[in-house]
Amino acid sequence: MEKIVINTPVVRSEILVGENWESVRGMLPQRGVVIITDDNVRRLYGENFPAFPVFSVLPGEDSKKLTVIESLAEKLLDTGVDRTGFLLAIGGGVVCDIGGFLASVYMRGIRCGYVSTTLLAQVDASTGGKNGVNLGGTKNMLGCIRQPEFVICDPGMLFTLPDKEYLSGLSELIKTAVIGDRDLFELIERNHTEILKRDPELLAKLISGSVKFKAEVVTADELETGLRRILNFGHTYGHAIEMQTSVPHGFAVASGMELATEFSYEKGYIGAQEKYRITDLLNRFTLLTDYKIPDDQMGQLILRDKKKSGTDINFVFTEGIGKASVRKINLNEVIDFYKRFRDKKK
Ligand SMILES: NC(=O)c1ccc[n+]([C@@H]2O[C@H](COP(=O)([O-])OP(=O)(O)OC[C@H]3O[C@@H](n4cnc5c(N)ncnc54)[C@H](O)[C@@H]3O)[C@@H](O)[C@H]2O)c1
Repeated sequence: MEKIVINTPVVRSEILVGENWESVRGMLPQRGVVIITDDNVRRLYGENFPAFPVFSVLPGEDSKKLTVIESLAEKLLDTGVDRTGFLLAIGGGVVCDIGGFLASVYMRGIRCGYVSTTLLAQVDASTGGKNGVNLGGTKNMLGCIRQPEFVICDPGMLFTLPDKEYLSGLSELIKTAVIGDRDLFELIERNHTEILKRDPELLAKLISGSVKFKAEVVTADELETGLRRILNFGHTYGHAIEMQTSVPHGFAVASGMELATEFSYEKGYIGAQEKYRITDLLNRFTLLTDYKIPDDQMGQLILRDKKKSGTDINFVFTEGIGKASVRKINLNEVIDFYKRFRDKKK
């Protein structure tokens, strides 16, 4: 088991990679605990949940909305959870986002911890304290940043994940490697077959690598005023694709990374060979889908991106595998590149 710590001025958050999830029992207070999960995770693992009240949401992105938060908050109140309460989220990125958001706003904040059950949540979503819910058609528009006390990442839980969800998580892993860790990228390149077999030892190594990088970035810039923005690589186009199609988060981000990589190449920030290696890796894991979003619709979605400021946006470019930069560019440039890219693909 590897423990990775995020130390911020307000809180210490421990991410335990390779820990058996059932050891969570020993990390909880004796009373005042509630568990938030989704119906799939409850069906698969609910029998072994610690003995506390469980509230389950419908699986999927559609549960990330304020009405769900409100109804859960009412349940917490009815159960008698007060300011000394503890919220344990057991689930993927959706459940961790909902749980973290609820724990942040319920009675102005109660303690919380996560058991992350998807690869995407283990490598990315549950590290860093971002808790977002969607507002209508716009991703993560309402939210805050608040670290959980602990996150358990047990690779053994990933055996029950459907292939599509597993691959979706690989995409965020590749993202981390592209922006910050060349060795991690090469480890993924070399171990295509073992990764698809979900070898727990290899997975623990990959998850640790990703979490370590993210923890360093978050420790340096918890509130995303600078460095942390690089974690949004692929997300400008990716969020637009995710909201407009039924493509899972990681697949949408993969297509966003392909666009951002091609854009970086057009700008001269990355060479042809590095560009090829990135898109080839995304392709080998079958992460690139054929979404069809008309230019004008993509334009509208980009204009609503919360990373924009005025007519500009902080766009993340790759400058070679393991290195990224954030540059303020005009929103129209982002929209125009999409048009050129789609024209070339026709
Ligand atoms: N807060 C952040 O920093 C951050 C970062 C990246 C992504 N996210 C968010 O994460 C969300 C996507 O997360 P996700 O891909 O984990 O989706 P998810 O939570 O919807 O889980 C995907 C599916 O897998 C099922 N599932 C979960 N664990 C399982 C298991 N062990 N075995 C079998 N099935 C299981 C779920 O019920 C669901 O149907 C998006 O909303 C995205 O915005 C947040």
